Formats: sequence, C-alpha cells, structure tokens
Amino acid sequence: MRVTLIAGNWKMNKLRKEAVAFAQALPALLPPGHSSELLICPPFTLLWELQPLLAKAGVKMGAQDLFWEDNGAYTGEISASMLLDAGCTHVIIGHSERRQVIGESDLLINKKMHKACQEGLIPILCIGETLEERKAGKAEKVVAGQLKQALAGLSSDRMDKLVIAYEPVWAIGTGVNASGQDAQNICAFIRGQLEEYYGSQLAAAVRILYGGSVKEENIKEFLQQADIDGALIGGASLDAAVFANIVRLGEND
Ligand code: PGA
Repeated sequence: MRVTLIAGNWKMNKLRKEAVAFAQALPALLPPGHSSELLICPPFTLLWELQPLLAKAGVKMGAQDLFWEDNGAYTGEISASMLLDAGCTHVIIGHSERRQVIGESDLLINKKMHKACQEGLIPILCIGETLEERKAGKAEKVVAGQLKQALAGLSSDRMDKLVIAYEPVWAIGTGVNASGQDAQNICAFIRGQLEEYYGSQLAAAVRILYGGSVKEENIKEFLQQADIDGALIGGASLDAAVFANIVRLGEND
C-alpha cells in the first residue's frame, strides 16, 4: 500500500518571515488525522529555520537540489551531508527548470541520484516531456530516456524509497494541467519501466507523483488514478491555506 505524498516545491520563493508564517499557520489548517505524508521543499536559506516548525506540523522537509561531491572547492554548491545536517529527508533532483534554465544534463542528474541514494536522502526524480515532444508523440520515449539515464548504475538497494515525479514541462506553472487519464497513462508506463529495471515488487513500492499546475480543483482527479501516488506542487504550495486544502481534498472520503 503506497502512502500518498503531497509535496510542495517552493522554488525560489519566500523570505524568512513569510516562510515562518506559513509553517506556523499550517498545523491549524491541516485536516486532523490526515493520512497523507507531507513534504515542503523550501530554498536552502530557509532550511535550518523551518525544520523545527515543519516537524511540529508533522511535515517533512526536502531540498530542491544537491551537489554530488562531499565537500571542497565547489563554490555555490550544497552537499548531501549539509542537507541531512539541516534536517532534510528528501531532495528534488532533475527538475525541468534546472534541466532547461540551468542546463543540467542527464549525466549530472545521474551523479546527483547516486549521491542522494548513497547518503540516504530520498530522491524525488523529476522527469517529463516538452510540448513539442508530446505533440510529436514522443512523451513515453522522452520519459523512458530520462528515467534510464537518471537511474543508470543504481542497484535496487534503497530504491523502494525512491519517488518519481512525472511533470510534463508544458504543465508546469502554466495553469494547463495534464488530464488525469493522460497523467495516469505515463505514470503507469513509468511503473512498467521500473518493473523492467528492478522487478515488480520494487516497482509496486515506488511512489509516482504528478506535477504541473496541481491545484484544489484538480487534486482529486489525479489522486484517483491507480498509478498516481501524490503530487509535487509548485505555485499552489506557497499559501498555507491552499496547501492544507489540497491535503484535505486529497483524503479519501
Ligand atoms: P506548478 O509547479 O505546480 O507551479 O505547476 C510544479 C513543479 O514545478 O514542481
């Protein structure tokens, strides 16, 4: 039985005061006794401040990126041990904004996956096709390629904890979400690929999230799908009341 994971990706948003206000408001807004696992991924500068507040709200904390070396002369980078030290349990790897805006390659993403797995940080691996690729009928091919390259050389140890986020690039921050059925088709395809790599037992344990314009209006549609185990939410995770409402709407009635 896969536990639903509702994850917020704050991207490059919020200063300390706003972040603290969010975390302090959240416990009273969340539905009592909810069954989902909750995660917030704030910018690096907020990790230390937020960790105790999020813990109090029963929310885990993740980072939005990491570097693959342990320490040393890597100006501007953040190591896995720094993230663990700050209280992170998860780390987003290969977000399409990093692939597209920063130019992160599949090779770098693979190195980050290795480091996160080695150090016991749970990777949230983001994969997804662009609009051109979808229009050309290549969505599955693109997603399969990204998955294969990200997971290259990773054995099945600890992989049952792996989280994959299927995020079609054209749906991110656009307000145009994939339909529940379209997202389900790709997520089922991803699970099939995982089965090929790691066997059916492990593939059945891995959580696959949908991301891309998730909001209060569509969360139910996604969570009803057999192979969608949660959501990675950008814009709609910035407001505590909206985030809490998404959690509430995602609960089984
Ligand atoms: P969005 O972002 O919910 O604002 O579309 C999702 C993401 O990039 O993870």
